[in-house]
Amino acid sequence: MTTAKILLVDDKEANLVALEAALRPLEQELVAARSGEEALRCLLHDDFAVILLDVQMPGMDGFETAAQIKERERSREIPIIFLTAISREMHNQLRGYEVGAVDYIAKPFDPWVLRSKVAVFVDLYDKTHRLEAQATRLAQSNAELEQFAEIVSHDLRNPLVSVVGYLQMLVDDHDDLPDEATEFIQRALQAAESMGKLIDDLLGYAMAGRTVGQLRATDTGQAVDRAVSNLHAEIERAGATVKTGALPTVRADSSQLTRLFQNVIGNSVKYRHSDRPLEVAVDAERDGDHWRFAVTDHGPGVAPEEAGAMFDRFYRGASATGRPGTGLGLAICKKVVEGHGGRIWAEPADGGGTVVRFTLPADVSKAQN
Ligand SMILES: Nc1ncnc2c1ncn2[C@@H]1O[C@H](COP(=O)(O)OP(=O)(O)OP(=O)(O)O)[C@@H](O)[C@H]1O
Ligand SMILES: [Mg+2]
Repeated sequence: MTTAKILLVDDKEANLVALEAALRPLEQELVAARSGEEALRCLLHDDFAVILLDVQMPGMDGFETAAQIKERERSREIPIIFLTAISREMHNQLRGYEVGAVDYIAKPFDPWVLRSKVAVFVDLYDKTHRLEAQATRLAQSNAELEQFAEIVSHDLRNPLVSVVGYLQMLVDDHDDLPDEATEFIQRALQAAESMGKLIDDLLGYAMAGRTVGQLRATDTGQAVDRAVSNLHAEIERAGATVKTGALPTVRADSSQLTRLFQNVIGNSVKYRHSDRPLEVAVDAERDGDHWRFAVTDHGPGVAPEEAGAMFDRFYRGASATGRPGTGLGLAICKKVVEGHGGRIWAEPADGGGTVVRFTLPADVSKAQN
């Protein structure tokens, strides 16, 4: 525990001595001020856990001093304990303060009661400081991690581009290569391509939580259209159709929303039965203060024990065998949905297949347009 400062304000020396004696066992730093003015000066440059303030003082009295303390940004949050002979009039004056901002102790005070009250505030001060320090450390390490991901992705991508470039030149410029060599080169190109995707997905994953501050009223129908257009080649190849119901406007980061639909619809297309036509349905219904979305397919479905794990990073299920992917798609979706204040999960679809459901807050009014 760090040592906190406690400010004792009383014009009478004997009272200060009594306060110091009562509080010494707390082993905190006690600072004495002999007037309201002196107290205000102390508060200019130091931070205190709590202020003990005598009400009856010549010149600026305790209430006036408190009013000035509460007016200043720097000292506004410091709790005050008034030391006073309590009267009806005093009661009324104390009522003017917000609950928790002030407390009082009747004079003559019981040292044990005084010490316990002050100890509570010292404890609160200590916890608040620890939390603040923790929040700062967290924000710092998050920022560092994101920066790290960006640098790593960038620096991995550059050499990969030259690997692909040289391999491509080998294939394009040398038609006299033995068949085996051409096949090896093709395999190397495929590996380079999946490494490129992994780098993109890792970067996508690192960035996916950064939605706050960019939330705007976003038409989810348009986000689905963009996702479908990005998946055009795969959808065409699969001979799949994507059917959308009436979709709402939500408060969201529009590119993250597109990515979310793209990953989920992309999975339905990738993990399909090859012997039947595929239809993917995208619907939404209102559920209290959220919209609940559903992306339904009639593919091989997921086993109940897979339904939770598939949102984990790098998880690849039974259906993934022989199909390209990094297992980051749904982990990115989870980050995006949770970053928007929603939830995502999967269920078996009626008649076989998978439904991926997620919620997004319905209140568009807070959106920054
Ligand atoms: N619609 C679906 N039908 C059946 N299985 C699915 C479906 N969606 C996801 N899965 C299973 O969940 C796993 C995780 O999916 P996720 O999208 O996170 O990764 P991926 O598709 O394997 O790779 P990536 O999306 O990173 O290219 C998949 O490997 C697959 O086994
Ligand atoms: Mg996927």
